[in-house]
Amino acid sequence: MQLSVNLNKVALLRNSRGGTNPSPLVAARTALEAGAYGITLHWREDNRHTLQSDVRDIRALCKEHGCEFNLEGDLREELIALACEIVPEQVTLVPVTPGEITSDHGWSLPEDAAHVAPAVQRLKAAGSRVSAFVDPGAARLDSLVSVGVDRIEIYTEPYAAAFGTPQEDAALLEVKRTAEEAARLGLGVNAGHDLDLRNLPRLAREVPQIVEVSIGHALVADALYLGLTETVRRYLEATRGEAPEAPCTA
Ligand code: PXP
Repeated sequence: MQLSVNLNKVALLRNSRGGTNPSPLVAARTALEAGAYGITLHWREDNRHTLQSDVRDIRALCKEHGCEFNLEGDLREELIALACEIVPEQVTLVPVTPGEITSDHGWSLPEDAAHVAPAVQRLKAAGSRVSAFVDPGAARLDSLVSVGVDRIEIYTEPYAAAFGTPQEDAALLEVKRTAEEAARLGLGVNAGHDLDLRNLPRLAREVPQIVEVSIGHALVADALYLGLTETVRRYLEATRGEAPEAPCTA
């Protein structure tokens, strides 16, 4: 399981003062040098965290390091046009509801497959792999195959919310079933949202179809206590199913 570090929260902290510190670029370099497989940025229309300049800078950095850059976002033209220009190794298409605090649902299938199809064609023609965000338990993954999507990213918030409760097994089973169905259809499987040092090891051990996880909020929060290099090291352990010590959360 590969680890892509999402640096939106570093950008958010920087933007809160309007300067250049902390720098997503410096954080990206640190994460890659610590062994992360790649870097993820979600560029939203309101520019509340990642800016277009971050996307360009980190694209270049990942190229220099021979690492994967994963650009997340919706279908708006400025994002698809930028992606076609800079050609991230992976573009993850995510449905965005105006006003949402963070992504909170996957595409509705099969209806949205036709909706994402033109962007998928353009991104693939430019040379990017395309992933689509889906809910655990999503039906009709075949509709994504038929428009050329390469991977799905399973929304893991329901599993994370159930972790440590009597619903944990059932929530994990939904993720597993979705991953198995995707693999059967020839889709690669990513996962993300609300993953942390506590819930990641079980996911890594029990859903072997997952190729890549992208993790932001909890990883950046842990880095406040542990430092980014040590934090990435512990998340890498967790991606191998080991259970590293996690900092207190309250
Ligand atoms: N995947 C998607 C599609 C997201 O929008 C986000 C948040 O930007 C993540 C994964 C990472 O979630 P988290 O910040 O909770 O680790």
